[in-house]
Amino acid sequence: MANARMLAAKANNTNIGSFIIMALVLGSCVANGEYLGGGRELTGNPTVFDITQFGAVGDGRTNTFKAFLKAWIQVCASPVPATLLVPKGNFLAGPIIFAGPCKSKVTVNVQGTISATTSGFATPEWILFERVDNVHLTGPGIIHGRGEAIWGADGCGKKFKCNLPPTSLKFRNIVNLEVSGISSVNAKAFHMFLVKTVNVNIHNIKIIAPAESPNTDGIHLSNADNVRILDSFIGTGDDCVSVGRGSNNVTVERVVCGPGHGLSVGSLGKYPNEEDVSGIHFKNCTMRNTDNGLRIKSWGGSTPSKAVDIHFEDIIMENVKNPIIIDQNYGSRGGESRVAISDVLFKGVKGTTITKDFVQFMCSKSVPCKGVVVDDVKLSFVGHKGGHPSASGGLIGSLCNNAGVVFGGRVNFPLCPNQK
Ligand SMILES: *[C@@H]1O[C@H](CO)[C@@H](O)[C@H](O)[C@H]1NC(C)=O
Ligand SMILES: *[C@@H]1O[C@H](CO)[C@@H](O)[C@H](O)[C@H]1NC(C)=O
Repeated sequence: MANARMLAAKANNTNIGSFIIMALVLGSCVANGEYLGGGRELTGNPTVFDITQFGAVGDGRTNTFKAFLKAWIQVCASPVPATLLVPKGNFLAGPIIFAGPCKSKVTVNVQGTISATTSGFATPEWILFERVDNVHLTGPGIIHGRGEAIWGADGCGKKFKCNLPPTSLKFRNIVNLEVSGISSVNAKAFHMFLVKTVNVNIHNIKIIAPAESPNTDGIHLSNADNVRILDSFIGTGDDCVSVGRGSNNVTVERVVCGPGHGLSVGSLGKYPNEEDVSGIHFKNCTMRNTDNGLRIKSWGGSTPSKAVDIHFEDIIMENVKNPIIIDQNYGSRGGESRVAISDVLFKGVKGTTITKDFVQFMCSKSVPCKGVVVDDVKLSFVGHKGGHPSASGGLIGSLCNNAGVVFGGRVNFPLCPNQK
């Protein structure tokens, strides 16, 4: 209680300062004959809460998570749109939870760097936004996971049961999320994980980790609807984008991916009774030196579900291994996958590959892939670059196991036998 009162007193002091600044700003706007107002009325609450006003020190050594929480309480309780500001500096922090619901729209503006502690994680995430609607995380600052300190330990790979190190940024149970301008560097495992989020706009972000960093997916979606990921750069050690169970209406556009394991739908069918996936569209993306290109993957021995309307269009590839692949035997578990895949389009794919099996469709015997179209795919083989075996083991051309594939347009490699 005493704490809350002290904070309120502090906030009021700040407000006098901002009142004077606002007066000056408004004065100069009028002088210039411009109107820059809107949303920053002086209602008795400051709208920007700087974490250094709550005790944070940006020296890279002091754990500042308490300052984040104190500032967040003010931001989230604000009746008008409010901003949590991380100014220039290096702010070390253990697990942070930005929990809602909040009273108004909230922004977290990162100008400096937030660095993760290297131990002390009881939770599967480092920074969690939970039940905060109308939230905007923006930059140009850096979210630094400091994964390099723990990557040496055993990764999870395709193991079925395994607790991953914490995700850098998790968003869960959110409606209306925007993420822009930030860079996520060296996450301990996933950089960004969206769970049960609706109406998401991610744009102009950077995701960076070395090719050999384990399980560092760029952006992973699970039960996410109406998602756009645009104009971003993702170079990491696992999938650049992976669209998982129960996700619908997802567009990934003008994303540059590499290094990494490519743009993926899946892995699907890992857990019992997964929700269907539909309307996943990747457009105008560039893949550089990735371990896979465009991929759909599902686990063997799964319960039934569907993955429909998955399009990859206008994609440029440079030195990509396994450029186009559907792998329904993903993961170390026996039995057939029962994830039914249909209406899949690969159109306008060009560039270079380091494996000669340009197209690999390894679909399930019990639910063969339906309506797969490969149209205008022109890829040149540029050498093995140190001998990379492909997923299906070095055939030349295309493989269509349990898949009805229609090839159209200009395609410059041998097609599956017994197909058009
Ligand atoms: C798909 O998502 C976009 C936002 O990314 C939204 O504008 C559009 O209305 C959604 N479509 C459907 C059918 O929900
Ligand atoms: C890719 O970008 C080009 C140029 O802006 C545009 O003409 C084309 O329609 C885009 N492709 C898709 C699938 O949106």
